[in-house]
Amino acid sequence: MAKALEGVRILDFTHVQSGPTCTQLLGWFGADVLKVERPGVGDATRGQLRDIPDVDSLYFTMLNHNKRSLTLNSKNEKGKEVLESLIKACDVLVENFAPGALDRMGFPWARIQELNPRMIYASVKGFGPGPYEDCKVYENVAQCTGGSASTTGFDDGPPTVTGAQIGDSGTGLHLALGIVTALFQRERSGRGQRVLTAMQDSVLNLCRVKLRDQQRLAHGPLTEYPQYPNGTFGDAVPRSGNASGGGQPGWILKCKGWESDPNAYIYFITQAAVWPAICEVIGRQEWIEDPEYATPVARLPKLEYIFATIEEWTKTKDKVEAMDILNPLNIPCGPILSMKEVAAEPSLRATGTVVEVDHPTRGKYLSVGNPIKMSDSPSEVTRSPLLGEHTEEILKGVLGMSDEEIAEARSAGAI
Ligand SMILES: CC(C)(COP(=O)(O)OP(=O)(O)OC[C@H]1O[C@@H](n2cnc3c(N)ncnc32)[C@H](O)[C@@H]1OP(=O)(O)O)[C@@H](O)C(=O)NCCC(=O)NCCS
Repeated sequence: MAKALEGVRILDFTHVQSGPTCTQLLGWFGADVLKVERPGVGDATRGQLRDIPDVDSLYFTMLNHNKRSLTLNSKNEKGKEVLESLIKACDVLVENFAPGALDRMGFPWARIQELNPRMIYASVKGFGPGPYEDCKVYENVAQCTGGSASTTGFDDGPPTVTGAQIGDSGTGLHLALGIVTALFQRERSGRGQRVLTAMQDSVLNLCRVKLRDQQRLAHGPLTEYPQYPNGTFGDAVPRSGNASGGGQPGWILKCKGWESDPNAYIYFITQAAVWPAICEVIGRQEWIEDPEYATPVARLPKLEYIFATIEEWTKTKDKVEAMDILNPLNIPCGPILSMKEVAAEPSLRATGTVVEVDHPTRGKYLSVGNPIKMSDSPSEVTRSPLLGEHTEEILKGVLGMSDEEIAEARSAGAI
């Protein structure tokens, strides 16, 4: 079966996490992703956080599936010639270098358009135009400047970053959408275009409910936040602890075994529609009719007490047992799964969301497969390439270079 992006060729100049997540997604959808790396060096993550000496790290292998690797020195004269040919032969160029790096190599947008007017030139940068546009940015800088950290954590603690890589992988996702949208528009216009995604903007987009709350704050306290009714609100959205962020209050509650197991917890949502079922299951039937508890508005100032009471019940069940009791009652809840549990979860293996991949120097390892499932575009996960593994294959197959031309490029230090 054909894949959705078959026939689309990506010149992948990305490194570290944000860009590689984007091109990996495109690769899963069938695009031919040519990862360009500096000869002898490669993507820095190949050597970062290594668990096995001299073997590509999991950091690298898990972000660079379904790609081919070509080593090319794009600052070398001969290398630039090869790069020009690649720009002409590809549909999309993706990069996430520090601001201006491609211009410094001699490939500003105007030059790329000149070489290939159909080219889509997509970039991740830390910030959009403005005071910080020249800054280098990593994940947590984006989480902090995009509004996430100031609203994450507990009221009595410092700003907190989240484990989900919303700055890097979140921006990669945004960029991938920009690229496929530009490919779609190119079908009609025949022209490529510039696609730019700033990490700060992507994080803010993912935090839009907090900007919602910032404006609500002008009209009174945020009643679903743990600061209400006894705490204080300043002039900016505070940290919301484990509050749900939506209209249905929620909190993380202890389950049986919490004293020794750091993940023996469940997320519990007191959705209004199932309030009677919640009261029944925790043995507080009197709350169903009691006007002090019967309506969502009446419950808001007592959420802390209500969740503490529900917790007395959840503490008597383990998290999966609690889920098994609550789910049939339509009470929205979710056990806190550790990475160990997620890795072993059979249903995630069955859908290919967690996959085992074999690698020539590393052996078998687990990875996250394509989380986007499509009925007409199968997605298989292939291992990440070794540094320069496909250099000759790409130069011959994509650019039609002869053995002599390749030898010449090699002796010039271009590949
Ligand atoms: C991530 C980041 C901070 C890393 O910075 P860095 O390690 O210093 O790497 P840079 O992007 O500055 O690239 C280093 C140099 O390598 C050069 N280089 C990269 N690939 C090359 C190649 N194949 N051949 C020749 N030179 C190459 C670049 O041109 C750049 O040179 P310059 O400084 O002379 O312009 C930076 O790339 C960045 O801010 N990127 C944008 C935001 C982003 O994506 N951040 C998230 C990363 S997960």
